Amino acid sequence: MSEFALEVESLVKVYASGGKAPIRAVDGMSFRVPSGIIFGLLGPNGAGKSTLLRMLSTLTLPTEGTAKILGYDVVKKPVEVRKRISSVIQATAVELLLSVKDNLLTYARFQGLDKATAARRADALIGEFQLGPEVDRKVQDLSGGFRRRVQVAKVFMVDTPVLFLDEFSTGMDPLLKRQVMNLLRAEVEKGRTIILTTQVLSEAEELCDDILIINRGKLIARGDLNTLKLLSEGVYEITLAFDHLPDNIQAEIAALSPIRSAIEANAIDLALKIEESRVMEVVSALSRNRHVLRVEVRGASLEDIFVELTTREGRELL
Ligand SMILES: Nc1ncnc2c1ncn2[C@@H]1O[C@H](COP(=O)(O)OP(=O)(O)O)[C@@H](O)[C@H]1O
Ligand SMILES: [Mg+2]
Repeated sequence: MSEFALEVESLVKVYASGGKAPIRAVDGMSFRVPSGIIFGLLGPNGAGKSTLLRMLSTLTLPTEGTAKILGYDVVKKPVEVRKRISSVIQATAVELLLSVKDNLLTYARFQGLDKATAARRADALIGEFQLGPEVDRKVQDLSGGFRRRVQVAKVFMVDTPVLFLDEFSTGMDPLLKRQVMNLLRAEVEKGRTIILTTQVLSEAEELCDDILIINRGKLIARGDLNTLKLLSEGVYEITLAFDHLPDNIQAEIAALSPIRSAIEANAIDLALKIEESRVMEVVSALSRNRHVLRVEVRGASLEDIFVELTTREGRELL
């Protein structure tokens, strides 16, 4: 067996787009993921996350390149791949006409689990996902949030070594999300590998051992949180609160070309990519002849790095 849960080599997916220029949803990605970790694919809407996951889970054929799950090629050995994965893909796969409980049981039986084990696990998951009051209702009669719970609960019914989760937390309340995060952590400790996508930085930050940032079908940066934070060297967050907001402050802010800026009541909040030696210069220019109540300068948050990385053009970090 391959030591890698996932090996992706020069993977491309091009969608024809009715007369217009074809869309390169995944535009030449290569990376490997070792077994036994939570791996996060982080990127804004349209980055290519779902397309990548659909290729890895054998739902869509690549246009070029290869991808292997535990050494099995997704195009040449799709049956071997499917035996080893379970996935929660957007717009998936709940049987609308079945009850919550039958969804879990059917999925487990389909994946080859014996009846007694399936029943036992279904009962446990119904508790953990707070589906108790809904167990006998048809999924089509449930709200979006509850459908999502059923989808996610399903993948915990089975023991496939690799799990794919596409924006799993959509529609979950914070409490349930926290609980599911704990479940995911526990699964990884048992040796499973989880590949998840998210647009939510805090989710990746909290959950993932290794993060790949993607944008417009390409890899932008990779590493654990500390590595990504290093990429942010030279990104500073500056907050200034005035006794009243200066008239021409918007133009001054714009002239600094901030990565991000916000004005709230009498305070401004900026993220800037500048040399450390210029930080105080900027702060004093903004404060000159004004009554400043509060000044804060911080290193960049992951949020800022993300914006910086996904908006910059043509800069190669890999
Ligand atoms: N079936 C499809 N046909 C045509 N274009 C698609 C299809 N699926 C996705 N795309 C396009 O591919 C790009 C990547 O989409 P997607 O993989 O869904 O990104 P993400 O999941 O990161 O939001 C987008 O520009 C999207 O519009
Ligand atoms: Mg998506």
